[in-house]
Parts: sequence; C-alpha cells; structure tokens
Amino acid sequence: MTNFKNFFGFTKEPFPQDMRTEDFHLSAQLTAAVERFLYAVQTGGISVITGEVGAGKSSALRYAAEKLHSSQYRLIPVIASTGSINEILKQICFGLNVESKSISISTLMRTIRGVVAEVVGRKQTPVLVIDEANLMRLDVFAQLHTLGQFEMDSKPLMPLILAGQNALLDKLRYHTSRPLASRVVARSHLEGLKHKDMAGYLKHHLEVAGIKEQLFSEEAMTALQQSSGGMLRKTNFLSRGSLMAAAQEQCRVVSAEHVRIAATELI
Ligand SMILES: Nc1ncnc2c1ncn2[C@@H]1O[C@H](COP(=O)(O)OP(=O)(O)OP(=O)(O)O)[C@@H](O)[C@H]1O
Ligand SMILES: [Mg+2]
Repeated sequence: MTNFKNFFGFTKEPFPQDMRTEDFHLSAQLTAAVERFLYAVQTGGISVITGEVGAGKSSALRYAAEKLHSSQYRLIPVIASTGSINEILKQICFGLNVESKSISISTLMRTIRGVVAEVVGRKQTPVLVIDEANLMRLDVFAQLHTLGQFEMDSKPLMPLILAGQNALLDKLRYHTSRPLASRVVARSHLEGLKHKDMAGYLKHHLEVAGIKEQLFSEEAMTALQQSSGGMLRKTNFLSRGSLMAAAQEQCRVVSAEHVRIAATELI
C-alpha cells in the first residue's frame, strides 16, 4: 500500500483526532461558542453548547477552557452519564480532588459547596464544565442548579457550562428543569460545515500538516460535505481516507470517487 503521507509530502499527520488547540480551524461559530463560554464564566451564569455527533463540542470546550488561566480559575471537567444525581456529584468531587465516600445527596452537596467556597476564598473562580450533558437524567437537571447557590450570595459562585447533543435543549425545556434553564445566559449551536466553508477548512488542515496546495477537487469537496453533513469528525475521517485512496491510484488531486471509496469504510 502506498504510504500516502510520503506520496503527498505531509510533514505531519493530516486530519488528526488529537489536534492541538493552537492548530484548530478558527471558524466564526467556534469563536462565538468560546465568547459565550467566557461570558457565562464572567457573569457566573450557565452557557449551553449544542451540536450533533462530531460537530466539535468537546473541542470547543477544550479551546475555551485553555483561555482560563489556572491562577484565576479552577476548572472542574465532568463527562456526564445516565446515572443518578449522586453519581454526577461524585464525579464533581473527583474533579475537585476530594473524597466522596458518602452516598447522601446532601452530604455530597455540602462537600462540594465547602470546596467551592475554599476555591473562591483563594480568589479563584470554579468553573464546572459538563460534557455529554444530554445524557443526564431529568431529575439531575432538576437539582443541579442548587450546587451553585450559596446563601446570601446574589451572584452564583460557580459558572456552569453544559455541552451536548440537541436533546440537551429538550431536557432543559422540561418544566422540572426550569430553575436550571432560567440561569442560562448564553447558548451556542455548532452547525456542520457548509459547502462554502469546506475549501477553507480542508486548506487549513492541509497547511497544518505541511501542504500549501489544495489537494481536494471541487467535486471532492461537494462529496465530502454531502457525505459528512459537514460534521467535523466525519469530514476529517473522510478527508484522510480519500487522500489514502488518491495516493493508492497515484493521483495528486482527490476526486469525488476517492471520497466515495473512503465513505465505504465508515458507518
Ligand atoms: N476547530 C477545529 N479545527 C479542527 N478540527 C476540529 C475542530 N473542532 C473539532 N475538530 C475535530 O473534529 C473531531 C470531532 O470533534 P469533537 O470530538 O469535539 O466533537 P463532538 O461534538 O464533541 O463529538 P461527540 O458528539 O461525539 O462528543 C475531532 O477529531 C476534532 O479534532
Ligand atoms: Mg464530545
């Protein structure tokens, strides 16, 4: 099999899954999501980021979180599950590096509030970031807002960022989630890449990997966009696969047929 990286002359792995945030493609919607994340952090509110599978939600969280200096902010990253509120609270304790032996909701809440108060006392802002939040149960949504509340404080002490698939919004709109939803101050939705964005996105990835010329034909871009719906993960997998298919045929320009070959490997 032709080594496609040598064939095209890539100096780095193209379309990697673990891209450094410095190398990210800075789209208008990524910038907008990051601005909203930071606005919620400043105001002590809640920000919600939604998008379909592979739209770039976790990457946007990673990118925004890197803007928070560790001397001023204490990031508490949590990947949600379908478990009970106790499980989420235990994960938050884990994120705060505190032991969580208790199974009582009130004890767990008290422990978390205690650590949050200590963090605030050190002039740091704790920032709770929950990814895959669409998985959380409705009873978790109904109780989560109480975590950020401290008696007598008018401003919530712990901003919350929720990211997840679109079902997250449905859960937030449910009547028992109202207390949490009413604290949302900014919301962003990551759409798939449109056809007009594709050339710039692909060019960016190629340049990061050391290639200045556009290796994808117009038809290949159309096929990529149609096949991936513009979702970044799928676009990346297909782009990489179609580069391999093109190299296999010793073609320096990727055609729509190469994209179709790559698509047969994906589900
Ligand atoms: N701004 C960007 N520039 C370049 N690549 C990106 C960017 N954002 C995301 N990606 C790439 O797209 C892929 C999917 O991104 P990510 O995992 O963030 O999506 P997601 O919406 O969290 O997906 P899921 O719904 O499965 O959790 C990753 O491999 C990531 O490196
Ligand atoms: Mg994700």
